[in-house]
Amino acid sequence: MTKQEILLAQKEFLFPAIFHYFPEPLIIDHAKDQYLFDIDGKQYLDFFGGIVTVSVGHCNETVTAKTRAQLDKLQHVSTVFATQPQLELAKKIASITPGGGALTKSFFTNSGTEANENAVLLARMYTGSNEIVALRHSYHGRSAMAMSITAQSTWRIHDTLPGGVVHAHNAYCYRCPFGATPDHCGTRCATDVKELIQTTTSGKVAAFIAEPIQGVGGFIVPPKDYFQIIEGIVRQHGGLFISDEVQTGWGRTGGKWFGIEQWGVVPDIMTGAKGLANGLPIGMTVAKPQVADAMKGVTLSTFGGNPVATTQAKAVIDFIDENRLMHSVTEVGAYLKDKLYELKDKYTIIGDVRGMGLMWGIELVEDRATKVPATKATARIMELARDLGLLIGKGGTYGNVLRCTPPMNITKADVDEFAGKFDQALGAWSAS
Ligand SMILES: Cc1ncc(COP(=O)(O)O)c(C=O)c1O
Repeated sequence: MTKQEILLAQKEFLFPAIFHYFPEPLIIDHAKDQYLFDIDGKQYLDFFGGIVTVSVGHCNETVTAKTRAQLDKLQHVSTVFATQPQLELAKKIASITPGGGALTKSFFTNSGTEANENAVLLARMYTGSNEIVALRHSYHGRSAMAMSITAQSTWRIHDTLPGGVVHAHNAYCYRCPFGATPDHCGTRCATDVKELIQTTTSGKVAAFIAEPIQGVGGFIVPPKDYFQIIEGIVRQHGGLFISDEVQTGWGRTGGKWFGIEQWGVVPDIMTGAKGLANGLPIGMTVAKPQVADAMKGVTLSTFGGNPVATTQAKAVIDFIDENRLMHSVTEVGAYLKDKLYELKDKYTIIGDVRGMGLMWGIELVEDRATKVPATKATARIMELARDLGLLIGKGGTYGNVLRCTPPMNITKADVDEFAGKFDQALGAWSAS
């Protein structure tokens, strides 16, 4: 198909709600490692990795070889039969979960949305309570339940969503909901959860669900004690702790397998998707055994535990492990952080730089004093970067946070290429 035919077919045959990043949609043709190539053959350095999904590079040779072999061997049986790839993956995950492998039982599905559906259902069955505490500015998926725990109006596209959910303040220190500054706030956003539960729920909750670093919300990084304080409050009210690791899992935050480990909490349930299979569809809900055992009755998933997807997921985890990527994420991530801080010194449109490992957000503002979100400029700078052969993501409740999540096996040379092009894009915007 020609470029024009693809764009016309997209209009005619796909839901119009499937949005694209650019007014002139970018049509990707193929990819290798850290590079994407469009239909005209133009090369782009991929600093978003799908949406935080390409964890070990596009079409990673080591991973794909194992997947190819599995494609020729067995492609599908559904969860009503046992297969070795599914069990090898589950066993590996059990060995790396927080608390020295405290979460041992997995249920595989097809997406982050489904993984969260399963987690919330499980918490409700385990506790006998229906009520969930989620966070403002969160994103957990696009089913009705997942939208109900999500807290950004853009991603709650219908108004009548299932109830039983209250939303606590997140730790958005750059825009503190209490108007405080991090050193003198007493982590009020966390302690407030007690009053939230006491005033807006029955006093007994099923679970608290959160992303250790909010992803779509714009890589919002909480203070060190935030989640520990909330964990204590939630447990006092009978609730479990669910960590949505769809973006933060598998070493992305550096030095640890899961984002929640950065905050010293051992969750009862964790969910994963995206980077787990480097781009093949997968969802994972892993739980402490006594919690998993509370899902009474029977259930199934047609594509869950698919032999091809689970083979690829296991290959991805092994690749991260064998190449010690969690450690290079820390090192290369620190290098990227320095480059971003240099750019913050140079361009006043950058209001905040925040992140961890290889997960960095750059919040753009019209004015550093008022912090008015520079939403239009954000879209324009993304486009300027695209013209220069650099792809970066976008997020934030106000659409003003640029997001960098390159594959975790990039090098400092890739960061240099990114920084040079991003500097040029910011410079072009400033001059316009
Ligand atoms: C933190 C988080 N949870 C859940 C999801 C939903 O995952 P999926 O799009 O695979 O359903 C996303 C997707 O962006 C996410 O970022």
